[in-house]
Amino acid sequence: MPFKIPFLPEQASSFAGDVDNLTFFLVGMATFFTVLIAVMVIGFAIRYRRRSPDEVGASFDNSALLEITWTVIPLVVVLITFVWGARVYFRIYRPPADAVQYYVTGKQWMWKTQHPTGQREINELHVPVGRPVKLLMTSEDVIHSFFVPAFRVKADVVPGRYTSLWFTPTKTGRYHLFCAEYCGAEHSRMIGWITVQEPEEYQAWLQTVPTLGVPTAAGERLYAQLGCNTCHRAGADAKGPDLGGLFGRAVTLADGQTVVADETYLRESILRPGAKVVAGWQPVMPSFQGQISEENVLELINYIKSLPAAESAAATPVSLEGGRR
Ligand code: CUA
Repeated sequence: MPFKIPFLPEQASSFAGDVDNLTFFLVGMATFFTVLIAVMVIGFAIRYRRRSPDEVGASFDNSALLEITWTVIPLVVVLITFVWGARVYFRIYRPPADAVQYYVTGKQWMWKTQHPTGQREINELHVPVGRPVKLLMTSEDVIHSFFVPAFRVKADVVPGRYTSLWFTPTKTGRYHLFCAEYCGAEHSRMIGWITVQEPEEYQAWLQTVPTLGVPTAAGERLYAQLGCNTCHRAGADAKGPDLGGLFGRAVTLADGQTVVADETYLRESILRPGAKVVAGWQPVMPSFQGQISEENVLELINYIKSLPAAESAAATPVSLEGGRR
């Protein structure tokens, strides 16, 4: 039963209640102990005040019972807070497998978003109600922070890295999106709206937005345009590893280490190809840093994710554990 506290924002996501209950517990505990200690300080100061100038205080023995009590009670309270907080935290930062992935790119000073079906928006994001939404986020310049108070979610958006966030909107409506990390002169204007719609309404809305196609298709065009396929292909004379079925797999590097080919790895390999060279290959790939935008990188990643594993996948120097579902 979520508490209705008028000074908190509206609860519009599936974990707004959890976050508020925890906040309420913390505020309640802090208030209780603040009042208790203040009353005792004042009460004892009055009760045990010096009544005459020559009065000598009584001596006392330490009370083990008292000391244990005031150690154990705070310990229990703190442990409850820890376990409770950790559970809420894990829930918020572990997207469910069926969450639909949207893309968010922060830049001074706007939020660019993209739907899985390719539609783009600026400082706006439309999502259907009742379905888990996962955001894969990065920044083109400095650190920003994606914050939707009504959903009780906030995560840093960091250049050179992907961070993610998820929520299930529970109520239709328009909710404020803020940048919660000071990012330059117009930080305070880096705001927008999340519009939560009924699924049918959302589908109808999608039809009204012109799109250049799904990110996978855009990625495929870019892949050909940049000539990625001239090296990354099957065949004994290929200059780079075949990328079919790569996403989510473990990759063995030239230095013997193993990494999982996730979004962060793919992004790094596109922009800094020398950073993690796959075992058995020469570091001959040119960097695409500065030549393609973060959105282009996401499109390429989307396309690479969609590539099916080649027939000879077992022969390539990757292990299959890790990414398989
Ligand atoms: Cu972006 Cu503050």
